Amino acid sequence: MTRPEEMSAGPDLFDAEPRDQALSPGAMVLGGFARDMDRDLLAAIEGVLADAPPRHLVTPGGRRMSVAMSNCGRVGWVSDRRGYRYDLIDPESGRRWPAMPDIFTDLAIRAAAAAGFAGFAPDACLINRYEPGARLSLHQDRDERDRAAPIVSVSLGLPATFLWGGEKRSDRPRRIRIVHGDVTVWGGPARFAFHGVEPVADGAHPLTGRARYNLTFRKVF
Ligand code: SIN
Ligand code: FE2
Repeated sequence: MTRPEEMSAGPDLFDAEPRDQALSPGAMVLGGFARDMDRDLLAAIEGVLADAPPRHLVTPGGRRMSVAMSNCGRVGWVSDRRGYRYDLIDPESGRRWPAMPDIFTDLAIRAAAAAGFAGFAPDACLINRYEPGARLSLHQDRDERDRAAPIVSVSLGLPATFLWGGEKRSDRPRRIRIVHGDVTVWGGPARFAFHGVEPVADGAHPLTGRARYNLTFRKVF
């Protein structure tokens, strides 16, 4: 993704010229990978959220999550007092989750391949909506039955500081700036790394307003 003419870009172009960034073996940020399809992605997100509105889930410990979540695909990730799990049914509507839009699936497959994980076949997409102040504490993604497939994470709207840790919760995380259109992929030796998102700073993005959207694609089964 790094084009030769970017090598000489000055610091004022830092945000405008996306670059790929290795995080640890098996994990990387594909800078700006989804940027040229941002409007189509946001339209598809709106379509899904019209059928399955974002909601603040409750953790097994009883805390209301600050991030509002929804899903599309064969199964969706949910949390309640009973625990974390993937469910075929949206508990709010009692119906199946909306289908995964083709533009989502295509992007996830291309991004995984670009990061070295050919043949990714996502069956679930968690949609996270962050308003300023919303955060996601350090966690591992480990509710998926398929442990070989990577996670593909697409960020749109307001920027965020992504926390990238190690296999142990106590490993001190690195702070990575993630902007509109960046796609982060982790798998193989990085599949169970702890990660999280710092509270999103207030601001307004031209396409999303006071919000950050993140799509995480997973292969659950
Ligand atoms: C997640 O860990 O599920 C989402 C990460 C993010 O919002 O960047
Ligand atoms: Fe996660």
